[in-house]
Amino acid sequence: MRIGILTSGGDCPGLNAVIRGVVLKGTEINNQEFVGFKGGWRGVVKSDLIELGRSNVRGISKEGGTILGTSRTNPFEGDGGPERILENMKREGIDAIIAIGGEGTLAAAKRLTDAGLKITGVPKTIDNDLDATDYTFGFDTAVQIATDAMDRLRTTGDAHSRCMVAEVMGRHVGWIALHSGMAAGAHAILIPEQKTTMSQIAEWVESANARGRSPLVVVAEGFVPGEADDAHSERGLDAFGRPRLGGIGERLAPMIEDMTGIETRATTLGHIQRGGVPSAYDRVLATRLGMAASDSVLEERWGQMVALRGTDIVHVGFEEALGRLKTVPQSRYDEAALLFG
Ligand code: F6P
Repeated sequence: MRIGILTSGGDCPGLNAVIRGVVLKGTEINNQEFVGFKGGWRGVVKSDLIELGRSNVRGISKEGGTILGTSRTNPFEGDGGPERILENMKREGIDAIIAIGGEGTLAAAKRLTDAGLKITGVPKTIDNDLDATDYTFGFDTAVQIATDAMDRLRTTGDAHSRCMVAEVMGRHVGWIALHSGMAAGAHAILIPEQKTTMSQIAEWVESANARGRSPLVVVAEGFVPGEADDAHSERGLDAFGRPRLGGIGERLAPMIEDMTGIETRATTLGHIQRGGVPSAYDRVLATRLGMAASDSVLEERWGQMVALRGTDIVHVGFEEALGRLKTVPQSRYDEAALLFG
């Protein structure tokens, strides 16, 4: 069987380890051949591909990014669509596709599978927000990078007796904030799942300050303060109805300073969280998922993705992963909040 692999959506540490896992298991054990589509679905629609053999994946599991490149191209837009993709696959002699991606990628893969294409998936996101899998590769690396950054913010914060606000990624959920904040011993962790008020945040900051500590506030990019009027936040306005400038971290810092009188600085970690070498945990998880995806093709598991349940790699339908976001449960937040302030 000749299989096309693609990486789509935002990049994520561990993508190359998945590609290596697929290709090594596939070529050495499952008698499969591979091509790589360049730039996600764009490569599928434009038939832009490279041959992928053992030599192409040598030593890549420790590399960040993706050797195939990625994009947020929707395969149904422009001159895409199932007929065009099938035509390209036939011409190139490709029997099936392994799509490595997040919610958008898997949703497109589901639509294409429903239209008759042979596609199997591998879930990917640093945000860890995909349901039906306990953890996604990339999350552990992002948390480690954020934690290292916070350790550094604490020493400069201590030196100046400042409150430091660290904004982390996570899109609509607070997993990266929760884990990196706990690891760094943050005095407050603010996540989209919790409508924390500004007065509560100020109370935690003042309490840490009163004990002689320089407060560290970790905020997920999707957080909205409790007082914010939802109509305002939807229109891109801040809690006071002013146009939003910068991320939530930069907007929070002056509010904290105004309310507490403590000098406050904000740092947005941004794409640093997605760059560089994947952690050992992510390399192992990604390799295992990649090897299992090669088996998925052998077993003709179209419309399914590989997933982590406990320590096992299992197979689940795309629809199970796409139903809803995996948000931070109340109990996990409450547990962390016991140590705030
Ligand atoms: O989904 C991964 C993620 O890094 C989010 O945490 C973040 O909101 C988004 O992608 C950033 O996307 P882009 O790289 O397109 O700016």
